[in-house]
Amino acid sequence: MTTSRHWELRRRPRGWPVHEDVALVDAETPSPGPGEVLVRNHYLSVDPYMRGRMNEARSYAAPYELGRPMYGGAVGQVVESRDEKVPVGTFVQHGLGWRTHAVLRGRAVVAVDAEAAPLPAYLGVLGMPGLTAWVGLYEIGAMRPGQTVWVSAATGAVGSLAGQLARLAGCRVVGSAGGEDKCRYAVEELGYAACVDHRAGSLTEQLREVLPDGLDLYFDNVGGDHLRAAVELANPFAHLVECGMIAAYNEKAPPVDNLFQIVGKKLTVRGFIVSDWADRQPLFHAHVAALLREGRIRYESTVVEGVERTFDAFLDLLRGGTHRGKLVVDVRGG
Ligand SMILES: NC(=O)c1ccc[n+]([C@@H]2O[C@H](COP(=O)([O-])OP(=O)(O)OC[C@H]3O[C@@H](n4cnc5c(N)ncnc54)[C@H](OP(=O)(O)O)[C@@H]3O)[C@@H](O)[C@H]2O)c1
Repeated sequence: MTTSRHWELRRRPRGWPVHEDVALVDAETPSPGPGEVLVRNHYLSVDPYMRGRMNEARSYAAPYELGRPMYGGAVGQVVESRDEKVPVGTFVQHGLGWRTHAVLRGRAVVAVDAEAAPLPAYLGVLGMPGLTAWVGLYEIGAMRPGQTVWVSAATGAVGSLAGQLARLAGCRVVGSAGGEDKCRYAVEELGYAACVDHRAGSLTEQLREVLPDGLDLYFDNVGGDHLRAAVELANPFAHLVECGMIAAYNEKAPPVDNLFQIVGKKLTVRGFIVSDWADRQPLFHAHVAALLREGRIRYESTVVEGVERTFDAFLDLLRGGTHRGKLVVDVRGG
């Protein structure tokens, strides 16, 4: 037995989650059985989709069970092994986050190269959010060089890679983000041609200024007023890539009352869920890992310290907060 800590869902949030909805629990993690490994988690991922898992209704992801440990992406190191293919010391990525220790089948973990990239990168630019950006642009958005692209939540885990991939593919890319700091970062560090602050005045009017020729591809992470602005500014035959609608996860998002324009502008609006595209993982990894090695992609991980701060980190992620790139929690200290 190993002493560990994990987060449980105690009740289902209504609207914005609050501390009373969850609890951090001390527990004993059993030793691994045959074919299993014990992983000491180093970094936990907090992701917007986890808010959906707190609801009762089943969507594409099963709901978290009340009174049971929550879970999600994590990277860590194998500290006990009864699977010879995954020896002690191996760094691995897996799906039992929101906890300090995890026992899993050896075949349920994926070894990662801790020399090639820092461990948090396997939860961000080289992990699920990275694949999401890649699939959204190349498979869903049918991105082509010379197009004008808008990426919302432009400095987050998905958006920061989507914006850079679109620029490297020869597109003119503008972003939107919350606050001056994030917008400055988007332009100066991530190479967006412009970035508008969605908290500062009319989104559509600000976008009109930086998109004088309209837009051909919108990578939507937000929904609500952002989607409305995209429909308004879309050129005929534009693609709207529906990756996420975070504005609607905790409250009613502003209405999108101009969808009739989809017809006249002959828009393609398509949602997707990254887990349906797992077979693109090798292609994505080869592409993005090469760009990282060549220093052509910038990425950042914002690291919050301590398993006890996981839920606050999750709330910050949902609210916008100040994080850049991928938000992770360092649980090596407990
Ligand atoms: N389809 C899929 O398979 C898939 C997979 C992964 C993620 N996603 C989606 O992709 C999106 C981004 O996820 P991520 O992990 O990269 O998170 P993230 O962008 O790192 O963090 C979420 C960001 O959303 C922005 N935001 C929150 N509420 C907003 C609002 N009302 N209006 C405008 N912006 C708001 C905030 O950025 P600002 O501070 O800049 O406002 C916040 O930092 C989410 O919608 C997520 O659900 C989809």
